[in-house]
Amino acid sequence: MAPRSLELIFLLIIVVVPMKGTVAYSSIHELLRSHGLPAGLFPKSVKSYNLDQRGVLEVHLDHPCMAKYETRVLFETVVRANLSLGQLKGLEGLSQEELFLWLPVKDIIVDDPLSGLILIDIGLAHKQLSLSLFEDPPVCRSQGLELNMPGRKNIGFQDQR
Ligand SMILES: *[C@@H]1O[C@H](CO)[C@@H](O)[C@H](O)[C@H]1NC(C)=O
Repeated sequence: MAPRSLELIFLLIIVVVPMKGTVAYSSIHELLRSHGLPAGLFPKSVKSYNLDQRGVLEVHLDHPCMAKYETRVLFETVVRANLSLGQLKGLEGLSQEELFLWLPVKDIIVDDPLSGLILIDIGLAHKQLSLSLFEDPPVCRSQGLELNMPGRKNIGFQDQR
C-alpha cells in the first residue's frame, strides 16, 4: 500500500471515528427510523428539530399545516413529544380529524414493527393503523387552514387541555 493511501486512511480514522460518538442524524426522518418509528410521522417540511438528553423531542415547522394520512392531521408550528424506542409519548401540537372534530393525539406507539401496525392514542380511543400509511413523509399544507377549520381559534388544540 502506498504511503499516500495510508495517510488517507489515518485521516479518515481521525475525522470519522469521533463523529460516531455524537448522535447526529441528518434529518428528523432518520431519527424516527433509528427509533423504530416510520419516517412519515412528520412531514417533509420540518424546519428543525431538537432532541434533549431526557428524550424530549421538539420539532419546528414554519407554519401550522395539515397533512393527509388516513384522516387529516394538523401539525402546530411546534410539536413536542417524549421519544423512545417505538414510542412518541405525551405529544403536544398534533391533532387529527375524527368525525369532524379535531382531537389531540397523545401517543403514537409501534410495539412490534413486524406486526405492520401502529397505535394512535387520541385519548378517547385507540386506533390501530397500517404502518405503511406513515412510510413516506407527507406534504403538509398551510393554505386554507382557517377556511377548512372554522372555530379552530375557539376549540383549538391549545384550549383543549
Ligand atoms: C416526558 O418527559 C418529561 C421529562 O423527562 C417527563 O417529565 C414527562 O412526564 C414525560 N411525559 C410523558 C407523557 O411521558
